[in-house]
Amino acid sequence: MNRIFSGVQPTGNLHLGNYLGAIRNWVRMQAEYDCIFCIVDMHAITVPQEPAQLRAHTREVTAAFIASGIDPEGCIIFNQSQVSGHAELAWILNCMTPMGWLNRMTQFKEKAGKHRENALVGLFVYPVLMAADILLYKATHVPVGEDQKQHLELSRDIAGAFNRQFDVDYFPLPEPQIMATAARVMSLRDGRKKMSKSDESDFSRINMTDDADTIAQKIRKARTDPEPLPETVAGLESRPEAANLVGIYAALTDSTSEAVCTQFGGALFSSFKNDLVDVMIGVIEPIGREMRRMLADPGYVDAILDRGGERAGAIAAANLAEIKQIVGFRQPGHA
Ligand code: AMP
Ligand code: TRP
Repeated sequence: MNRIFSGVQPTGNLHLGNYLGAIRNWVRMQAEYDCIFCIVDMHAITVPQEPAQLRAHTREVTAAFIASGIDPEGCIIFNQSQVSGHAELAWILNCMTPMGWLNRMTQFKEKAGKHRENALVGLFVYPVLMAADILLYKATHVPVGEDQKQHLELSRDIAGAFNRQFDVDYFPLPEPQIMATAARVMSLRDGRKKMSKSDESDFSRINMTDDADTIAQKIRKARTDPEPLPETVAGLESRPEAANLVGIYAALTDSTSEAVCTQFGGALFSSFKNDLVDVMIGVIEPIGREMRRMLADPGYVDAILDRGGERAGAIAAANLAEIKQIVGFRQPGHA
């Protein structure tokens, strides 16, 4: 049985890049796989979080998943800290992971910066917790962005180290599914920068909760160059803003930049933007409206997370009992 596990950090200001680059891929995977989507609040606290915001962002991400079409009955959606097995397995795996493996992690080096001595231990062992997330459910496939590839390779190494140490074939080695970078969405103000939640200009991004008027306004103000649309993608080279808007249109309509150029070649951006506004409002506005509705009734989202936590917890408890048996921990009711 193929099982997908993926984790997402509880961040606010979810935007079009998060939707086209990540959430939409997961929506499509649920038809083919048994899916577990985890909001990784324990990973989030490797950098300081304001408690009320952490909780609010956990609910916002959950609402975005469901509003985008992830079915909370078919899939399991929960926040990580509800299932204590993540922390328990992380400890066991910490005891089989050489420091040298973690020292190689480029994300730690970037985040720790120059003052390594002050870096938090949690940040250092972050990839071990990630391995525990995946292995606790014996997941076979893990869809992530390119930036998480190294962490996933480490998860495979850790799974292998456990299997070898105890001479078992217990953990499947999780397969990375690196999500297409084709859907990389750039800032509306600067086509060379990624659309990001942390950009200070709200006009640089389309938030998933933006209403139709705001979407229209942001697209009309989006930076372009004075040339009309080219007839082929080759004509988008060295035109990052034009390439971005064409790419967004293609992603929203499940088409390709090539096909969009064929359709709109020669048109002015002012007229292309009208079409772009229409397709964007068609996709994003209903999702945003549903998110706002759900977030106005926090009991609804909480009930889904509670139920997801129970379902995930049941799988985790069964696997953790087997893992503890392999490791040699005495447990009530076991030989
Ligand atoms: P973040 O909150 O920035 O860590 O992003 C969460 C997920 O959204 C990751 O899987 C990213 O790959 C994806 N993502 C974030 N920003 C963009 C973007 N501008 N274009 C495409 N995908 C993105
Ligand atoms: N580290 C991932 C990120 O920052 C999130 C994550 C945590 C994750 N646990 C995971 C992703 C397990 C995939 C599988 O994006």
